[in-house]
Amino acid sequence: MFICLLLILAMFSGASIISQKYSKKLSTLLSSVKQFINGNNGIDSNSELINNIRGCETPIQTLYDCLVKFSNSLNYEVDIYNPDNSNAIKECLEIMNFLTLSDVGLENINLNNIGQSACMSILSTDKFELAVFILPKGLSLPLHDHPNMSVLSKVIKGNLQVQGFSPIVENSNYYMYMNDKKFQLNKVLKLGDELETIATDNCVKSVQDSAWYLSPNRSNIHQFKALETCVVFDVLVPPYIYPNRPCNYFEISSKSTDERFTLKVIPEPDSKLPVAVYYNGYKPVESKFLSETEIHEHSSTN
Ligand SMILES: [Fe+2]
Repeated sequence: MFICLLLILAMFSGASIISQKYSKKLSTLLSSVKQFINGNNGIDSNSELINNIRGCETPIQTLYDCLVKFSNSLNYEVDIYNPDNSNAIKECLEIMNFLTLSDVGLENINLNNIGQSACMSILSTDKFELAVFILPKGLSLPLHDHPNMSVLSKVIKGNLQVQGFSPIVENSNYYMYMNDKKFQLNKVLKLGDELETIATDNCVKSVQDSAWYLSPNRSNIHQFKALETCVVFDVLVPPYIYPNRPCNYFEISSKSTDERFTLKVIPEPDSKLPVAVYYNGYKPVESKFLSETEIHEHSSTN
């Protein structure tokens, strides 16, 4: 009993330390972002601001540092296909649980005037991309896939209905396409192609829910509907690349059981896709790890 009490006390004090750490850093960060927005200064032209932000461990900066380390590790490709066993992806998900609207430069009041879906790209490398989606109440993101990608998501505002499907035809071109570990991809689906899938997700995600993920083989095809205006933070590992790793769009063409669905490839539904808008939130600065890695790589090639 005594040991149990000690363990519970340790857990609470640990959570408290993490929360205090982030709330303290976050207040410093917010004042920095306000300076940036109010002063309309470019981050690169304000060394004091850069130093201020570098001194902060915000969720976005911490997430970025974690992703840089992950994308330079030997586990990168293996973990994309096995996120269940990836400590790096678990760590990213834990960090994402601290994300707030303020981190991405939004307030509730900003979101009242948005009449259509919007997307803000925070940062993109060849290994990962950070992006934010805004989905007004009642609007949907159509069924789409993420070939050879894992995607980590966190709802930071609203309630989001999520429906996910996994391909089940293991010898199809598409399945092999989704399992090309060399990332040498080419588009294999054409309009009208049909894909057998099994429904693997049908749930509502909200701010209280932890970050979650899809993988190349599980729930890789999904659609969202905003039950109320939603903001979703996404990490794409790796990002889409056109034409080699494109996004395909689908519609449900038939349903054979409660869980089995045939999806048909359709043209990109332009009118339902988010429009790109300027990102005004915290932008990660180059991580210390990246600098050290680059220096190491550079010195080893000389
Ligand atoms: Fe998606």
